Amino acid sequence: MLRYLTAGESHGKALVAVLEGCPANLPLSEEDIDRELERRQQGYGRGARMQLETDKVEIISGVRQGKTMGSPIALRLANRSMEFFDQAVTAARPGHADLAGSLKYGQRDIRNILERASARETAAKVALGAIAKKLLSQFKINIFSKVLEIGGKTSEKDWKKAIDAAKEAGDTLGGIFELTVTGCPVGLGSHVHWDRRLSANLARAIMGIPAIKGVEFGQGFEVAAVPGSEAHDEIFFTKDKGYFRKTNHAGGLEGGMTNGEPLILRAAVKPIATLKKPLKSIDIATKKAVEALVERSDVTAVEPAAVIGEAVVALTLAEALVEKFGGDVLDDILASFNHYVGRLMK
Ligand SMILES: Cc1cc2nc3c(=O)[nH]c(=O)nc-3n(C[C@H](O)[C@H](O)[C@H](O)COP(=O)(O)O)c2cc1C
Repeated sequence: MLRYLTAGESHGKALVAVLEGCPANLPLSEEDIDRELERRQQGYGRGARMQLETDKVEIISGVRQGKTMGSPIALRLANRSMEFFDQAVTAARPGHADLAGSLKYGQRDIRNILERASARETAAKVALGAIAKKLLSQFKINIFSKVLEIGGKTSEKDWKKAIDAAKEAGDTLGGIFELTVTGCPVGLGSHVHWDRRLSANLARAIMGIPAIKGVEFGQGFEVAAVPGSEAHDEIFFTKDKGYFRKTNHAGGLEGGMTNGEPLILRAAVKPIATLKKPLKSIDIATKKAVEALVERSDVTAVEPAAVIGEAVVALTLAEALVEKFGGDVLDDILASFNHYVGRLMK
């Protein structure tokens, strides 16, 4: 079983993460993780905070002489700025955890909510995801992402213009990203129970990223409008290829399992909730009408959200892989994997 937890606040000392259940003997370095952390920090329309943070991970446990040991892997990511940590906030931002979180947790200082609700936490997820990606790559399973649109614009040239205009207007933008996973064997996940359906677990992982408001697989929501003849992927077989499809409307998932075709999913990201031209809100201390908090913030986060999407999908697939093929050592899992893939060709 592969599982993970993160802790840490946006302007606290550090983020920490623990990954448990990673097999032994996987080659792993801090550079493997830093590369992914750097990708998360890229993107047109990011705020000044991104220049502050050049994330570097510290592997605290679970790795010795460049290889995992099978014990829990603990990671630490120092925060570069603690500038705001002691500043109280009482003007709730619409679109954030600010109001509901303060009420639920009995807090008069919204800082106690927003520090953890901040997407800074996703850096820890990306660090964990980098390990999952490294594991998956041993099985030739690879994950790619691309941005499809930002602010309703579908070309990079147009969305950069839209981002500039939104920045000028003190506004923010959302968008859509797409993930493609190649090399998944048939049968990750299962049809037998709802919480073993890979489709459900992928959706949960993606929806667990702040600001994600929707996820679709393959043909997605369009499937509701087409006849079955245009929705399903006919099955073929040759000795060389084994079973295969000529279309991939299903996005590589049938019955809650991978079907051997590339896994394809898209996610909708809402516009950033902190606006330079602030929205109307209420001060929770005085109950008077105020403008929502304005703190250093991004215009859009679609590009980093795609990288975070890769990370959580990698973690979900790694979890399914370890569950299916078992084993405490990478070589055992590889042997089991290769035996299984060979059986599928028969
Ligand atoms: C990579 C990334 C960066 C983000 N940066 C900011 C930001 O700078 N300012 C902000 O207000 N929200 C930012 N957000 C969005 C908030 O985290 C998110 O909108 C908020 O937690 C509420 O979203 P929810 O309703 O989906 O939980 C970011 C989200 C992501 C994925």
